[in-house]
Amino acid sequence: PTVWAQTLLIKADALVDVEQGRLVESPQVLLEGNQIIAVGRDIKVPPGAKELNLEGHTLLPGLFDMHVHITGDSNKFGYRRLTVTVPGAAITGVANAKKTLDAGFTSIRNLGAPGFADVALKEAINAGEVPGPRLFVSGPALGITGGHCDNNFLPYEYQVKSEGVADGPWKLREKVRRNLKYGADLIKFCATGGVMSKGTKVGAQQFAQEEMNAIVAEAKLAGVTVAAHAHGTDGIKAAIRAGVDTIEHASFLDDEAIALAKEYGTTLSMDIYNTEHILSEGKKAGMLEENLAKERSVGGRQRESFRRAVEAGVNVVFGSDAAIYPHGQNGRQFSRMVKFGMSEMQALQAATIKAATVLKQQQQLGSIEVGKLADIIAVKGNPLEDISLMERVSVVIKDGQIHKAPD
Ligand code: ARG
Repeated sequence: PTVWAQTLLIKADALVDVEQGRLVESPQVLLEGNQIIAVGRDIKVPPGAKELNLEGHTLLPGLFDMHVHITGDSNKFGYRRLTVTVPGAAITGVANAKKTLDAGFTSIRNLGAPGFADVALKEAINAGEVPGPRLFVSGPALGITGGHCDNNFLPYEYQVKSEGVADGPWKLREKVRRNLKYGADLIKFCATGGVMSKGTKVGAQQFAQEEMNAIVAEAKLAGVTVAAHAHGTDGIKAAIRAGVDTIEHASFLDDEAIALAKEYGTTLSMDIYNTEHILSEGKKAGMLEENLAKERSVGGRQRESFRRAVEAGVNVVFGSDAAIYPHGQNGRQFSRMVKFGMSEMQALQAATIKAATVLKQQQQLGSIEVGKLADIIAVKGNPLEDISLMERVSVVIKDGQIHKAPD
């Protein structure tokens, strides 16, 4: 059974108010159970309240990473992937969930896992069996035969096909229904080729418009959101027109794609840290030369697209594609988001209130506000002055429980 500190008063040097976009000095935050019940300066503290004094620290809302493969191993790419079993992925996920929470990410959106291992992990975390972030999961990603979300590593004789693969609107509606039946919270599909798959072109659209329309329409019937993996320009535009909630990667944006994203209110989730890790560590992790060559064509262009999208005022959230790089290093992307065009405050908003809003969780998560759930982290120093502090989160409170604190 969950045991909450009854009442906890947190004091710190500062608090990042992501709703107002400002820094609050000498804040006090009062928690009761898993809820924030007061935020201010001179809070009336009930007798018997415990105190957590975080001198020198800045408080922030728990972070969101909107693109994670929690069951994925950053050392198993290329043919090594074929050695991964579904139970193996689930166990890897348990280890990664703890690393991710340790890093300050109290919520993640998991975009693709085999055999509903992400659903099982979510349930184990929610039951308090293992530590981890709040999970919002997709189950297996949907994709075309031979596409980025299929498995193309083995020849014809093996007859291997990933579980989310289907062609044609009705077969795809069935896949959406199947994923929801087994516990998915949202739908992920692949709208273009990708970097890490074999035999796909990053620029090529995957799924005809009518297939994407069918996936989104079926998801909307169930009231769930849709994320589309898309690097190439045509696939990005088709997915936006189909009505997806988020475009993942969004590497090759042109003016029309940016205008469409604004018109449709589509959010972009761009993993701009990845390219550094792939190019320096990918070979050791088993990535094929084909994958590395594709990365060389994508990384720089994606960063350019990121800058243009931010400048144009498109909604951009924090999504890192953790699993490509080791889980727990998610925070490294913050400094790249600032380097390529965001203010420090914008980068923090992208990983908190904006992400919570895309997940429709803004009533209870995403900022330190009275009435919200107590997901709070702290870093030493002021991240608005040095965003790289987000790589070293020293305090993590999730659902009112202290998961990590300085000695
Ligand atoms: N999962 C993505 C893919 O295989 C990763 C792309 C990483 N590269 C990048 N520059 N963002 O397509």
